[in-house]
Amino acid sequence: MADADGILENKDKDYGIGIPVKNQAFFLKGLDNCDWGIKNRMSRIFNPKTGRTVMLAFDHGYIMGPTSGLERLDLSIVPLIEYADSLMCTRGALRSVVPPTSDKPVCLRYSAGSSVLTELNNECILDIQDAVRLNASALAVMVSIGDTFEAKTVENLVRTADYGYKYGIPTMGVTAVGKQMVRDARYFSAASRICAENGATLVKTYYCDGFAKVVNSCPVPIVIAGGKKLPEKEALELCYKAISEGASGVDMGRNVFQSENPVAMIQAVKAVVHDNLTPEQAFEMFNDLKK
Ligand code: R5P
Repeated sequence: MADADGILENKDKDYGIGIPVKNQAFFLKGLDNCDWGIKNRMSRIFNPKTGRTVMLAFDHGYIMGPTSGLERLDLSIVPLIEYADSLMCTRGALRSVVPPTSDKPVCLRYSAGSSVLTELNNECILDIQDAVRLNASALAVMVSIGDTFEAKTVENLVRTADYGYKYGIPTMGVTAVGKQMVRDARYFSAASRICAENGATLVKTYYCDGFAKVVNSCPVPIVIAGGKKLPEKEALELCYKAISEGASGVDMGRNVFQSENPVAMIQAVKAVVHDNLTPEQAFEMFNDLKK
C-alpha cells in the first residue's frame, strides 16, 4: 500500500542538482512554438530519424470519382498501407476501407466541394468533431491562390488552423493549381508561403524548377505531390530532386497506385526519401522487387 514515506523523506532522493534541464529543439522547421499535440502528431507523420515522410495519397475520388487505380480501394490501396509512413484520404475511404487496426497516421482530406466536372475549388470544410472522432493526425485543406475561389479557400484554411490549434491537430495547406496558373517557383513559393502565414503547419505543393526557393521561403515543412503518372524512373528522379532541394517528403498517389507494381514502387520511393538512394539505385531496387 502506498504511504507517505517517499514524500516526506528527503534523504536518498536524486534531484539532479547541478544538471541543467536540456531544451530540445523540435526536429521539423518552424514548429518549435507549437503545442505538444501538434508536435506529437507531426512526429507520427514524419519520421523523427530522417525528418521525412512518404504519405500515400488516395483522396483523388473526392473530386474525380473512381479514377484509374482507385476503382477498388480495398484491392489497390490496402496492400500498400503497411509500406506508407502516413495516409492521405477522405473520411469516406477511411471508414469504408482502411482497417481501424492500422497504426498509420492519417492526414484527413478536410475540404470538399466541386468536382472536376465543374469549376474546382469551391469548397467547404468538414466538422472538426468528425476529424477528432477519426483520430486524424492532420487536416488537409485545398488553397487556390490566384483563382476565383481564393478568398474562400484561404478562409477554409484559416478556420481549419483555428480548429487545429484548438485540438492540437496539424493543418496541411494543399496548393491547388488553377488552369490559368503558371506552375513555376514564383507561384508555388507565393502559394506555399500564404498557406504557412495563415496557419498551415505543413504544406503540400508541386516540384518545379527553382524548387529550393519554394522550400526556403516557406517556414514550415513541404511535401510534394507526385502529379500525373510518369514512367517509374522519372517519378523516382522527381522524388530525388525534391528531397535533394529540401522537401520533407512526398505525398504521392498516382505514381504509386498506377505503377505497374505499386508495392515495389512505394518501397523504391521510400528508399529515395529516407535512405537517399539515387534514382538509378531506386529504379534498380524497383526492378528487383517487381520480379
Ligand atoms: C490532389 O489534390 C490530391 O489531393 C492528391 O492527394 C495529390 O495530388 C497527390 O496525389 P498525386 O501524387 O496523384 O498528385
